[in-house]
Amino acid sequence: MLEQLEKLYQDAMAELEAVTSSEALREWDSRTLGQKGAVTLLLRGIGGLPKEERADFGKRANEVKLALAEAFAARETLVREHELARDLEEGQIDVTLPGRGRAVGGLHPSTQTLRELYHIWADMGFQVYRSRDVESDEMNFTLLNIPEHHPARDMWDTFHTTTPGVILRTHTSPGQVRAMRELGGDGSQPIRVILPGMCYRYEQVTTRSEMQFHQLEGLAIGRNIRMSDLKGTVTEFARRMFGANAAVRFRASYFPFTEPSMEIDVECFLCGGSGCRVCKYAGWLEIAGAGMVHPTVLRNGGYDPSQWSGFAFGMGPERMAMLKHGITDIRYFWGNDLRFLEQF
Ligand code: PHE
Repeated sequence: MLEQLEKLYQDAMAELEAVTSSEALREWDSRTLGQKGAVTLLLRGIGGLPKEERADFGKRANEVKLALAEAFAARETLVREHELARDLEEGQIDVTLPGRGRAVGGLHPSTQTLRELYHIWADMGFQVYRSRDVESDEMNFTLLNIPEHHPARDMWDTFHTTTPGVILRTHTSPGQVRAMRELGGDGSQPIRVILPGMCYRYEQVTTRSEMQFHQLEGLAIGRNIRMSDLKGTVTEFARRMFGANAAVRFRASYFPFTEPSMEIDVECFLCGGSGCRVCKYAGWLEIAGAGMVHPTVLRNGGYDPSQWSGFAFGMGPERMAMLKHGITDIRYFWGNDLRFLEQF
């Protein structure tokens, strides 16, 4: 049995030498030193030995056990270190690999255009006045000199809500009355504001018209504001927006809330007026509706039209973005197609 013990010792030590993983180490431990391990089993046989041999065998067996346990502990440390080193090696980052790009969001082309407009108008002394998207029929039409059943209402196809008299604004012009009432000090203060915002029209969606779009309204009220002020202001704006040489023209038109009314064109900045696809070979591009604030509207805003006058205009940021970037279909704006949006 003593020989068996020595052989077991030699074999176990040799096996331990070959162990390189903690898993194999655990196996070796239970196979050798565990409760059902080889050493335990051999020790159980001690009763079968002649009495005089038992003491020697027991002593040797304990030595072997201790030696194996020590060897195990030493091996365990070694294997751990080895495994840690391997983990670090495998987990290493290759710093020469190209980095993974992170997608960065951008501003919507409409927002970009609006901000450009805010800058220009701010430099020219206009403050932003924010009106509301959900409007009363009265503000959107009646107070703007468009009585109920008046045929001029057909100019704006309207989204109605389930509440009678509450609609989605079809243009930013109702903000004129709100601004006059809120900032005008009962008709005693001059006003110079722009009113940006989304407008809604119950319209057939085509390449040129959407159900929703931005407008940027302008309003100036003072004691001596004349048509020449409107012309000069808009011309200056066009130069800042489209370049120092931008030519502007004013065409007579009709809006119920301005008198006289006009439409404003800029000379096509793509072809310089000679005619191209963008301006439909007209040489001119329409950028805004405008006019002198109608006396009735001034009165509705709290001003005495015999003392006060003003001009107003309404321009379309999406149209301007389309012209500037050669966008051929307005539906791209709210289509949320990244292939479109990422170009800006
Ligand atoms: N509100 C008009 C429209 O939507 C534009 C406009 C604004 C015209 C201000 C004159 C003055 O068509």
